[in-house]
Formats: sequence, C-alpha cells, structure tokens
Amino acid sequence: MNFDLVIHDGTLVLPNENLVADLGISESKIAEIGKNLIGARNIDATGKLVLPGAVDPHVHLDMPVGATRSSDDWASGTIAAACGGTTSIIDFIEPEPGQPLLQALISREMEANGKAAIDYGLHMTVRDGLAETIAQLPGVIAHGCPSFKTYLTYAGFKLDDAAMLKVLESVGTLGGLTLVHAENDAIIEHITHQLVSARKTNPAYHPVSRPASAESEAIHRVLTFAKVAHASIYIVHISTADGVEELARAQGNGVIAFGETCPQYLLLTEAEYKRPDFEGAKFVCSPPLRTEFDNKQLWKALSEDTLQSVGTDHCPFNYFGQKDLGQDVFTKIPSGLPGIESRLALLYTFGVRAGRISVNQWVDLCSTNPARIFGLYPQKGSLLPGSDADIVVFDPNRKVVLSSTMLHEHVDYTPYQGFQLHGYPVMTLLRGDVISEEGKFTGQLGSGQFMPRWVEDLWSNKNIRESQI
Ligand code: URP
Ligand code: ZN
Ligand code: ZN
Repeated sequence: MNFDLVIHDGTLVLPNENLVADLGISESKIAEIGKNLIGARNIDATGKLVLPGAVDPHVHLDMPVGATRSSDDWASGTIAAACGGTTSIIDFIEPEPGQPLLQALISREMEANGKAAIDYGLHMTVRDGLAETIAQLPGVIAHGCPSFKTYLTYAGFKLDDAAMLKVLESVGTLGGLTLVHAENDAIIEHITHQLVSARKTNPAYHPVSRPASAESEAIHRVLTFAKVAHASIYIVHISTADGVEELARAQGNGVIAFGETCPQYLLLTEAEYKRPDFEGAKFVCSPPLRTEFDNKQLWKALSEDTLQSVGTDHCPFNYFGQKDLGQDVFTKIPSGLPGIESRLALLYTFGVRAGRISVNQWVDLCSTNPARIFGLYPQKGSLLPGSDADIVVFDPNRKVVLSSTMLHEHVDYTPYQGFQLHGYPVMTLLRGDVISEEGKFTGQLGSGQFMPRWVEDLWSNKNIRESQI
C-alpha cells in the first residue's frame, strides 16, 4: 500500500515505549506504524523524535482584560503555537454578564473561524451560580463544550462558596468537568489594600499580595466541594508546593481531581519581580511566580502523576503600551505571561534532559493527558492508527537560545529571554499537512477547525484515572 506521506526512521514516542519506525499517513490520519513504508511524499526523521502534536488546554487569545486585550489574536497566537509544536489549543469563552451562554459561544467561535491555524476547542466560563445560568449548561455541552471555567477571585468573575458548590454539582451531574482558578479572594483583597495604603505599589509587591496560602486554601476548599458534590475537577495553573500537597491528599481520598501547572511555575521565581525599574511587570501573572522550592515540588508532582497536565496559560501583554498601564500601581498591570510557543521545548530541556521526567512523561504531560482529560483522545494526543495526523518532528540535538525576536508570539518580550535550549521542534504537521518547518509557518490561516468535545470522552468519565491514582 502507498501512503500519502511517510515519516521515515524517526523515534516514535509512544505511551510506554520508544520505537524507531516509519509512520504512514493517509487522508489526514495516521494509517500505520511499520518498516519500509512507501509514501507519495516522504520525510526523513532519522535521529529525530516523532510525537503527537502538543495539546495546550489553557490559552487566552484576544482576551479582553479591563481596557485592553491579550496581544495575540487567533491568527498570531496559533501561528506561534504551530511553530512550537502545538496543534490543538483550548481557549475560553467569557460571556458578558447576563449574556446567553450559547450566544457567547457562537460569537467566540466566529472570532476564531477563518483565522486559526491549528485546531481549537473552547471552555465556557461560568460567572455565577444562578438558576438561569445553570439551566443553560446542557445546551453548552450539546454544542461540544463540556468543560466549564470558574474563578474564586477577580471582581466580576469570582464565585462565592455557594455558587461554586452549585456549579460543581450541576456540571458534575451533567458529566462535565469544572476548571478552577483557585486563589482566596479575601486574602488578596485584604493584603492588596494594606500594600496600596502604605504606597507599596511597585511590581515587587504583586507576589506579596497573593501569598502561597491564598492558593492552598482555595485549592483545599474547592477540592472539599468537589468531594461533597461528587464532581470531577481540574485545577488550573497550580504554582505552590502546598497546593500540590492538597491535590495529592484529595486524590488519595478518591476525588477525581486533575492538576495543571505551567512552565513559568516550573522555571521562574519571584526574584524576577525585583528587577530594576519597572521590569518586574513583565512577570506579573496570577497566581504569581514562587520560590525554587515550589519549582522543585512541582517537577516532582509531574514525575509522580499528581499533576497530569502542563498548559501555558498564554495571556500575553506587551511591556510597552500594556504592562505599563500599571506604572503607578501593580494592581493595574494586566496579568498574564506569554508562552504558547516555547512549552514543548522548555519541558524537553529542563524536564527530559535534566532527568526530571522521562520522554514519555513529557509527551503525556504536553499532549496525551490534556487530550484525554478534555475529551480529545484518541483523535488528538496519539500516534496510533486512526488518530489525526497531528505530528511533531523534534530534534533532540538542536541548540536554540530563546529570544522574543525568534518567537512568533505577538508580544515585545519573552519571560524566557536567553534560556538555552537543547532540543527544539523542527516540523509540525496538522492533519497530515506541514504547518511549520525550521521555525517558519507554512500552514494556512483558517485551516484550524473547531473541535467539539463530548462528555462520554472526558477522562473523568472513563474510569481510567481511578486505576492510575
Ligand atoms: O495572570 C493570568 N494568569 N492571567 C490569565 C487569566 C488567568 O487567570 O488564567
Ligand atoms: Zn487563572
Ligand atoms: Zn488562564
């Protein structure tokens, strides 16, 4: 049999083994793993790793924040993702207060449609626990969005305890999955008020205003709610050792709880906020960067499967013109960091090469697990026959020094400036088409498709986690 395309002699990174073989692709799907396959087109991957396209379950493209918007739109953000080896993202719908959820969903889909260069799904943000909101959840699920984002902080978004419990229970009853941004709002408000009153307003005070205990308390509380509500839960961007401990305890008590961290919480520390002048603003994200000890414990949690997922929380704002909105007071600095392009490579150098995780765990954390958790597997996150031919050819020997000028992210800095990487993606395929090669985008804007997801495909509904915990 002749295939449309064959990737020859790469090391295929499969769930529990690495196999030097050919990968045959036909009609946009992976068709066969074998030897001496014959293709109409052929790619030599000798000496390279071949992995399923990375899945980033947490990005914010073109997101309105106060008077500004995150600086990557659906075009620039997905081009950057493609060049970094990411072929699927899940972004968010942020409905206006009182806006029908389905209306918000459709208009968000329209924003992406025709622009996205890679496939995308959407999580629905729930801003209250009112009966009229809860009544709309089945319609959202029926439209292919079975995951719901909640916040325990941020004015206008935060849910009180009763609302959080109600949303968790309602989503859980429908078979959906609730994502939580877990920080204690009262602690943050209280300390922020004290700091601002004392004119402690520069970026160095941002982490002071959001201590580790604000995260661990909120994680503990929401995991308790998940247990009471018999609901599964996904905690986004965990930044602290204490937060991870809470997660491990709940998992041990039978809660179906997934945990995500992000490269910034593994590789950067709060020391960045002490940079001279206003430069600490480049690192303002919520939760904030923590300590080296937290970094270490998060790596450990990834290696032990307490944390199952690495997302980016990509939410870029330019240093000049956006971050500087907070020149007078750190609370006005738009919160979020860029990172959609560098996740896979950072996790390879500082995870795999550094001996913290195996190459198979790397692929699980950046691709297979997010696909599983959010109902995309095995269409995404897999190299098995029948899966979409979303593939990364990764050169483990390529040396790259990260800089904002080489990245495609539409933002004037990278928090990883000067980081020395040993291993980098050299080719990305989306459904069998080469969409990036040697750092150049070769795909087409608009070729990314909306990925509807269904409750029966969520990992939490497949009883697989239970056997792993
Ligand atoms: O600071 C952050 N993380 N901004 C993006 C929105 C969020 O909280 O995830
Ligand atoms: Zn968040
Ligand atoms: Zn986020």
